[in-house]
Amino acid sequence: MSAPNTTPIATEDMTAAYEAFLSRYPAYTSTSQLDALRATEYARLDQQRQVYLDYTGGGVYAETQIREHVAILTGGVFGNPHSKNLTSMAMTERVEQTRDYVLRYFNASPDEYMVIFTPNATGALKLIGESYPFGPGDNYLLTFDNHNSVNGIREFARDKGATVTYIPVMPPELRVDQAELTSRLSLSRSGAHHLVAYPAQSNFSGVQHPLEWIAEAQAQGWDVLLDAAAFVPSNWLDLSRWRPDFVSLSFYKMLGYPTGVGALIARKATVQKLRRPWYSGGTITFSSVVGFGHYLTPGYASFEDGTVNYLSIPAVEIGLKWIESIGIDVIHTRVDCLTGWLIEQLVALRHSGGAPVVCLYGPPDMRMRGGTVQLNFFDPAGRMFDCYTVEQLANERRISLRAGCHCNPGAREQALGFTQEELEPCFCDADRLSYEQFLHVIDGKTTGALRASLGLATTFADVYRYVEFARAFVDRSASSAN
Ligand SMILES: Cc1ncc(COP(=O)(O)O)c(C=O)c1O
Repeated sequence: MSAPNTTPIATEDMTAAYEAFLSRYPAYTSTSQLDALRATEYARLDQQRQVYLDYTGGGVYAETQIREHVAILTGGVFGNPHSKNLTSMAMTERVEQTRDYVLRYFNASPDEYMVIFTPNATGALKLIGESYPFGPGDNYLLTFDNHNSVNGIREFARDKGATVTYIPVMPPELRVDQAELTSRLSLSRSGAHHLVAYPAQSNFSGVQHPLEWIAEAQAQGWDVLLDAAAFVPSNWLDLSRWRPDFVSLSFYKMLGYPTGVGALIARKATVQKLRRPWYSGGTITFSSVVGFGHYLTPGYASFEDGTVNYLSIPAVEIGLKWIESIGIDVIHTRVDCLTGWLIEQLVALRHSGGAPVVCLYGPPDMRMRGGTVQLNFFDPAGRMFDCYTVEQLANERRISLRAGCHCNPGAREQALGFTQEELEPCFCDADRLSYEQFLHVIDGKTTGALRASLGLATTFADVYRYVEFARAFVDRSASSAN
């Protein structure tokens, strides 16, 4: 199978499209510094003719970030922190400096918040799951639209007898009904523990769920877990204005580099109620085998199991400073303009008979949404192209999209119209279910969709190439590709 026959992009066509884009999105011109950086700091993308549209998967780093990090590593002698020898203290200083910088970046008062370094956002979420004092009478409330690492917390809640409740999101925009949320929040009662979790931005649909929910939930006795992993790469999260109890994120999504470092940014007052189910190296002031006891170190240290990724942590400060040097508002504006144009072009595509070429899952305009564009392609007879096949076809054009459910089964199921009746049998008899068996149970329905996600180094040419790729599906039969 081969990629649809796209005619090579004519430069005049792209120039004309760019002019039309600029007159529709004039704010884009204020982000021109990013075009200059694309030619220098991110030059490898064009040198290798890569159209990278997977920023929700992972960000793209600037060359300067790597150079500055290498300079630190080659200019010092660093040992494992947690000791008082010279090399250990040198490293401890760098780690603590970065911890402070993370708070500063998010405008979080050190009196109110602490930063716990984790391997990734999932590590932050697992800390909450295992430590939150769920018990009978308590609640874990979460939106259908959540990453699996937030969904997984329900297993801790359920095991400890808490009630788990999902708030649906409604197609086609995949937003939460505000009245429904308000009624679910009224489930809380005093004396119990209630945790509500939602993503600031959906990694599936790009929907930005209102940050106003944080105060609304807290006013009714809920602790709020805001999964900011997909939001912070191109949006400003001001923790002096929005005060969730817990924020989870992965730095590689924000900064492209380093991988292996995430954070749980936690309100000190709420951390008091967490109960760690175990202790480990790095988390205790003292433990005894003979005395069969231990004391946890107060503060963040009791949550950082073992040795943190200490050599990578200084690269977080470098990356945050890099973002600041560009300006998160500039990045936001750029992503906003390009995503708006991309969506308009894609949803306008029609087969000769008038049928749409794509079905978009999520908001069709830029109101309260970010730079994630989720869709499936359809042929003139309304048959869906398999998203994994389309991903392969895009590869042939050197366009990196991502196919699948993106670890967000709730949004996928509501977008694609899966019912409880269809899905419950998957979990009845079998100890485990293979992917083939799953396809059989759901009668061959598609299991996923195709995601493009934009970020700081995306250019007009990138989204133009995606639109060109999509245009080649006009009047194409799905049976020729699937
Ligand atoms: C919204 C959201 N939350 C959590 C995660 C988990 O991140 P990680 O795999 O880095 O732990 C992701 C990853 O894609 C995400 O998009």
